[in-house]
Amino acid sequence: MFPKKLKDKLELRKANNALRTLGVPVNHLIDFSSNDYLGFSKSQSIFNSTAQYLKSQNILENGATGSRLLSGNHSLYKTLEAQLKTFYNSQSALVFNSGYDANIGFFSSVPQRGDIVLYDAYIHASIRDGIVMSHAKAYKFEHNSVTSLEALLERFKSASGNPAVYVVTESVFSMDGDTPDLIRMANLCKLHQAYFVVDEAHAVGVFGNKGVGLVSFLNLELLVFARIVTFGKALGCHGAAILGSKQLTNYLINFSRSFIYTTALAPHSLATIYAAHCALKTLNVSSGLHKNIAYFNKEVERLNLQTTFIKSNSAIHCCVISGNQKVKKTANYIQELGYNVKAILSPTVPENQERLRFCLHTYNTFQDITNVLCALKKCL
Ligand SMILES: Cc1ncc(COP(=O)(O)O)c(C=O)c1O
Repeated sequence: MFPKKLKDKLELRKANNALRTLGVPVNHLIDFSSNDYLGFSKSQSIFNSTAQYLKSQNILENGATGSRLLSGNHSLYKTLEAQLKTFYNSQSALVFNSGYDANIGFFSSVPQRGDIVLYDAYIHASIRDGIVMSHAKAYKFEHNSVTSLEALLERFKSASGNPAVYVVTESVFSMDGDTPDLIRMANLCKLHQAYFVVDEAHAVGVFGNKGVGLVSFLNLELLVFARIVTFGKALGCHGAAILGSKQLTNYLINFSRSFIYTTALAPHSLATIYAAHCALKTLNVSSGLHKNIAYFNKEVERLNLQTTFIKSNSAIHCCVISGNQKVKKTANYIQELGYNVKAILSPTVPENQERLRFCLHTYNTFQDITNVLCALKKCL
């Protein structure tokens, strides 16, 4: 027995060529799909220093045993959060179990009934879900458009009830790889006394000194109310943190349900996040990755593919190929040649905006990049 409405929804997905299935991880293909931009997930030295650290502290536990407000607030949390607030130049840092948890925890608890959330049209699903769980009113502005944001801020300037206005964007968009004008947005928020929130999931480890992200790189820390940094992408492990004031941390500990009602991270996870940040501090993170990004962009131009690509200087590069069937076919062709490139289908992205997503890494070679783009060119 299975509810008919659910069965119908699955059938519709199938008919639209959009049925999601879990594939077996493919390790034999050259990686142009993972978020492991710096290769940290496979770093032997991070693995070893995590193990050594746990051993040196005599931490021999497998799990947290409870939520952070009960038995799960391991002493490592204090060490890690102190490291994070220094590294990211923030007054306070609060670790969540994942970026998804951090975003739903923030947006479901911070904006109050009657408040207003202005969000970029392409904002990540975790932020949308958080907004839906809040009682605030939400309005989207056009992707990366300061003008569109400004029009909304003007519209709500003298809204009744004196609502708090929150503005949220990503510093690197996960499905486009592009970046908004954070400086102008931050100043606009200041002018309108709006609270600016930036999700830095795909900027951490990629931009800024030692990979500290774009907010710090642009010296915007004091103009940003909250930053969400995640550790499952360039940091190669898992978890996330919300960076902001001590008052914000205190508020989240008291009201953020995805923080309160869940088992804390295992000590091993905390030690890995700690070790990954130690590795960031010692690495010239960006040089290798940014050489590959520059080379990729140069090759896109040389092969005359630039009109199909969304402009990006991040590790994420997308070639728009309309239609689920067509983009899947292109991805399959390139995969058969040995390159792991993923098709991003609608409804994950809007219809006709389906795309091939190329994620670049420190460990991709120039030859890999040329080959994968030549394969794409042949297909197009
Ligand atoms: C912009 C953005 N925010 C948040 C998340 C969620 O982070 P996590 O994978 O740690 O749950 C993602 C991951 O896909 C993301 O791309």
